[in-house]
Amino acid sequence: MSFTTLVLAAGAGTRMRSSVPKVAHELLGKPLIHWVADAAFAAGTKGLICVVGHGRNLVEPLLENYPLANGNLKMVVQNELNGTGHAVMMAREHLEALAARNSDESLIILNGDVPLITANTIAKLAKLREQEQADCCVLGFTADDPHGYGRLLRDNDGFLTGIKEERDATDTQRQIKECNSGVYCFSLAALLKSLDGLTNNNAQGEYYLTDVVGILAKQKSKVLVQMTSDPSELQGVNDRVQLAKLGCLAQERINREHMLNGVTMLDPRSAWIGPDVTLACDVEVLPMTIIYGKTNVGEGSVVGPNTRLNNVRIGTRCVVDETIAIDVILEDRVSVGPRAYLRPGTVMRTGSRAGTHVEIKKSDIGPDSKVPHLSYIGDAILGTNVNIGAGSITCNYDGANKNLTKIGDNSFIGSDTMFIAPVTVGDNVTTGAGSVISKDVPDGALAITRPEQRTVQNWAASRKNTN
Ligand code: UD1
Ligand code: CA
Repeated sequence: MSFTTLVLAAGAGTRMRSSVPKVAHELLGKPLIHWVADAAFAAGTKGLICVVGHGRNLVEPLLENYPLANGNLKMVVQNELNGTGHAVMMAREHLEALAARNSDESLIILNGDVPLITANTIAKLAKLREQEQADCCVLGFTADDPHGYGRLLRDNDGFLTGIKEERDATDTQRQIKECNSGVYCFSLAALLKSLDGLTNNNAQGEYYLTDVVGILAKQKSKVLVQMTSDPSELQGVNDRVQLAKLGCLAQERINREHMLNGVTMLDPRSAWIGPDVTLACDVEVLPMTIIYGKTNVGEGSVVGPNTRLNNVRIGTRCVVDETIAIDVILEDRVSVGPRAYLRPGTVMRTGSRAGTHVEIKKSDIGPDSKVPHLSYIGDAILGTNVNIGAGSITCNYDGANKNLTKIGDNSFIGSDTMFIAPVTVGDNVTTGAGSVISKDVPDGALAITRPEQRTVQNWAASRKNTN
């Protein structure tokens, strides 16, 4: 089975009422257009052609940076939004080149605003066309409320004769509950031939892709319908109510899969896990937790409650409690939180700890080192088994530059130590509580900068006015 995929993503998405084009809106932390592209590549598409138009300054970068494309993604621009058929015409040059190379090439067409379509559904449709040598296979579904969808028209023998858009349909046709999903697999040659026959003589004054199906049927070409068993995956995003609804559907689908694979969730409805997250077995996800991006969680780790992770790699047997972490690596048996903020570039080595009200940015926290309470550690490298006393801070920013703090193995940092970076502290160093360390400290030394304590005897009594 071999096919190429065309994604229609030029539409305005007016009902989103947004300055951001619809296909750039995110579902579980991932743009809609990436969901669609993922499904196409997972189904085995050779390449992707995307029709962009409205808000393309925001859509194009999403496609340029799309990781699975591997050079197999082309974009074409539709400047005037004259309908789905017109969108396909914009890709004609690419499509003709493909057809010239292989006269029996299949083309899958997907809508950029239907994110939950699965690879399996796409592959099945492509297979059907190939096996049946059909000119077009339309993916259909039965809707309780078909309002807004194109209706599938069939003849007395059940063969598809055309697709009628809601606005152009007669009252009788509107009663039909079989709908067009907007997903098709065409013989590329047949599609290209029929595109010329499209007119914009309809209620919206647009060139409808759906009319191609009617044209092919009239020519007695082989046009088949595959009715889907799961209409939920064909729902489109037209407004933010639907966006939220599809978010819940995706959540259900993803969390179910994780639970069946050995992940415990106390309240799956309050665990929001993106499609690219991997969770090993015996991971526990606690309520009010958002895990997005390319996050991986290793065996036996506990994440949440009240936690947000984005692109975080977590090893085995970690505890991540009430934490925000972005672009971070936690090795094995790391403990974070409650209420920690780990910022990009932070690496916590095996057995290390970041405790309560601790912020760490772009730092390497060595094996078994601890930052247990109320600290800011930024641009720092900590060796093995370092203990940072409560309230200690790396003063990494001098107002112009960010500077490095280095602390060697087994050093014990007294509470409320300030490190004026750049500064290097050796191994086995102790700093006195409240010290301001602005000079390098050699191995094994004690560094203390606080003034001697002065004690005034009977101070309280002396303040009383005795007159
Ligand atoms: C379309 C189908 C309808 C089907 C429904 C399924 C047509 C004429 N109708 O209707 O039969 O039931 O999808 O969801 O095809 N687009 C462009 N350029 C344009 C217009 C649209 O790229 O000029 C893109 C949109 O960005 C969108 C897709 O095509 O991703 C579908 O367009 P939309 O306007 O949402 O079509 P529907 O009215 O939903
Ligand atoms: Ca739509």
